Amino acid sequence: MKQVTMSIDGKEVKAKEGMTILQAAMEVGIKIPTLCYDDRLASYGACRLCSVEIKKGERSRIVASCVYPVEEGLVVETESPRVQKIRKVILELLRARSPGLKEELAERYEVDKTRLDRDATFCILCGLCVRYCAEVKGANVLGFVGRGTERQVVFFPDIAFKTCPTCKECFNICPTGVIPSDFAVNVPRFEKQPTVFPVRLRDEQNLREFIKKIE
Ligand code: SF4
Ligand code: FES
Repeated sequence: MKQVTMSIDGKEVKAKEGMTILQAAMEVGIKIPTLCYDDRLASYGACRLCSVEIKKGERSRIVASCVYPVEEGLVVETESPRVQKIRKVILELLRARSPGLKEELAERYEVDKTRLDRDATFCILCGLCVRYCAEVKGANVLGFVGRGTERQVVFFPDIAFKTCPTCKECFNICPTGVIPSDFAVNVPRFEKQPTVFPVRLRDEQNLREFIKKIE
């Protein structure tokens, strides 16, 4: 396969065509923070925490390194002032949804509090659970519903009650820990009586209605 030569943080890097900037950086030991990346899954580009600054000629821009492909002559900065500023805002946003998320990174990018007033859902919509369940397990217990601010992860009880008790592999994938806690509450109820409508994570109203129906 053809190789390209590029620069990452001032270091000359040779990478195979088709690789992403993130993969090329990892190969030479340059660490870029990620949240929705998992090397077992197709890249998704949801969290943007892996943003880097790329320069081509006079122009520079910010791209998500987990989806952006390597290119001949590309100049990449993984910790430029612009990148650091963007990571700080992204972390602030994510921590409004999931307080306490990635303390180490929050400290590094000086996120001491969030200025955003948002309900903590403890799901940052990284899609790791949904993609792992579909791509690795082929089970499709979880899925997304809604758009924009209404977007949520749901799980499908009729499949969950059969599959989840013996699997639970997504428990270690969820960066916020919402999956294990919700499954511990819900899956035993699904076992009692499977149902087919989707149940939202941490949606108390939905859960109460669901419990009323099965009890
Ligand atoms: S439940 Fe966890 S793994 Fe799934 S999308 Fe939300 S934060 Fe990501
Ligand atoms: S790790 Fe690249 S967008 Fe999330």
